[in-house]
Amino acid sequence: MSTNIGIDLGSSKTILFSGSNIVLEEPSVAIVDTDTWEPLYFGEKAFKMVGRTSEYYTAVFPIEYGVIADYGVAEQMVRYFMRKAFGNRILKPKVIVTVPSGVTSVQHRWAAKAVEASGARNVLTIESPIAAAIGLGIDFSKPRGNMIIDIGAGTTDIAVISMGGIATCDSARVASSDFDNAIIRHIRKEHNMQIGLQSAQNIKKQIGSVVPRPIEIAIQAKGSNLFTGMPQIFEVTSSEIYEALKEPALNICKAIQAVLEKTEPDLVSDILQDGIMLTGGGALIYGMEQLLSEYLGARVTIAPDPLHSVVKGAITALKNPELLKNGNYRLRSIQDLIIE
Ligand SMILES: Nc1ncnc2c1ncn2[C@@H]1O[C@H](COP(=O)(O)OP(=O)(O)OP(=O)(O)O)[C@@H](O)[C@H]1O
Ligand SMILES: [Mg+2]
Repeated sequence: MSTNIGIDLGSSKTILFSGSNIVLEEPSVAIVDTDTWEPLYFGEKAFKMVGRTSEYYTAVFPIEYGVIADYGVAEQMVRYFMRKAFGNRILKPKVIVTVPSGVTSVQHRWAAKAVEASGARNVLTIESPIAAAIGLGIDFSKPRGNMIIDIGAGTTDIAVISMGGIATCDSARVASSDFDNAIIRHIRKEHNMQIGLQSAQNIKKQIGSVVPRPIEIAIQAKGSNLFTGMPQIFEVTSSEIYEALKEPALNICKAIQAVLEKTEPDLVSDILQDGIMLTGGGALIYGMEQLLSEYLGARVTIAPDPLHSVVKGAITALKNPELLKNGNYRLRSIQDLIIE
């Protein structure tokens, strides 16, 4: 019996979905041998080593901005995840893998190839906003504009969909990992401390915001003093982090505005009437809905379970191809993507 599998190959996380369950959710990272570039550890185990490697090992995030940046490592990482989730239990699964909207067919093909190498029989690609829309039960077969924004780690995937396809889109290279980098830079500059990626993400999730918080909160963070090199505990407040996140947050707003500016006015007026749907982990930062709705002048709603709506929608599309039938959107297979 063949199994249907949905894969969200994200810049920060890979999610595997099968049946009606998430069967694996791990960081998209590998630790490789610096000399041979041979991957040694993947996922959770590798993530714990990020920022803690010696010169003999390098941490590689093979998916950057939602597309494959290191094909060899990506292929082995997917193979490891498939084996970890399913062992040898499945025979030639049918797989759908998500890619950002508006990327080239070469990038679709690489994503599909990386998955095919792990033994899949039939691999299809779907653009994330289309998958999210299907997962959310949005009927986009009608001539009416819907805006879906997937704020991931590496990209903010912005799409206006109507009549079964994408009308305008952009996969903007500003997203939640820019918040992490802004926090690291701010702590360096203002506290003279070096912090790692995991601490930056903790600060972002616990006290980060893109609108001012009504009540200031503070947490203790750990870093190493830039002058002495010694580990030190220091206090960080929500208002200083808000200041540090202003710029990347504004860049996300501008990227969305730019897509609206190139969208037909009638579609824009539909969106202003019906509102915008947000998904992706980046949507979870405190105040994102409020910031976007104030900047764009439209109602903004966060999808239920925003971290998983893309992969859930992808598998729904794989199981119910008739959902795409009314429009011009076609799932693409490796054969469709062969370059002439
Ligand atoms: N509660 C939270 N508050 C703030 N940020 C969060 C929260 N939960 C997750 N994130 C951030 O969301 C990002 C991950 O989102 P997601 O899983 O949608 O990205 P991805 O699919 O891996 O990336 P991309 O779609 O860009 O390839 C990470 O940067 C993570 O730190
Ligand atoms: Mg994503």
